[in-house]
Amino acid sequence: MEMTFIMVKPDGVERGLVGNIISRFEQKGLKLRGARLMRIDRSLAEQHYGEHRDKPFFGELVDFITKDVVFAMVWEGPEAVALARSLIGKTNPAEAAPGTIRGDLACDVASNLVHGSDSVESAVREIELFFGKLSTNLAS
Ligand code: CMP
Repeated sequence: MEMTFIMVKPDGVERGLVGNIISRFEQKGLKLRGARLMRIDRSLAEQHYGEHRDKPFFGELVDFITKDVVFAMVWEGPEAVALARSLIGKTNPAEAAPGTIRGDLACDVASNLVHGSDSVESAVREIELFFGKLSTNLAS
């Protein structure tokens, strides 16, 4: 069974959308395997978003994700990575289809509410970054 890393960003927590977002994953049939309300420090943010280090918006991205608490989660299911990304919608909310989280609830690419792993390899890396080794009990 596949696992994916999902994080409600500070804008989603601030707007009170954590429950709405969790409901969508539950209704799809994915299983919640771990969850943490936490603050990300700059070091963790720079590791998590390392692939974007050379992008012009990298500084803005790190500032944004570290400015307040996030809600980090691990969800499990068949093809969990692809399923989650289809529920989340395209990165730019202007291009995200209605019915997706970003299509329904967001209107700005920087404040796009939620992050989801883009591949199985990214999911393994991101789950370890935020929750430790996959073999440990994610819920504790
Ligand atoms: P996420 O899925 O968390 O992965 C990288 C993030 O970079 C992405 O969501 C966006 O929130 C952010 N991002 C992408 N393009 C831009 C941009 N042009 N300006 C600011 N942030 C961006």
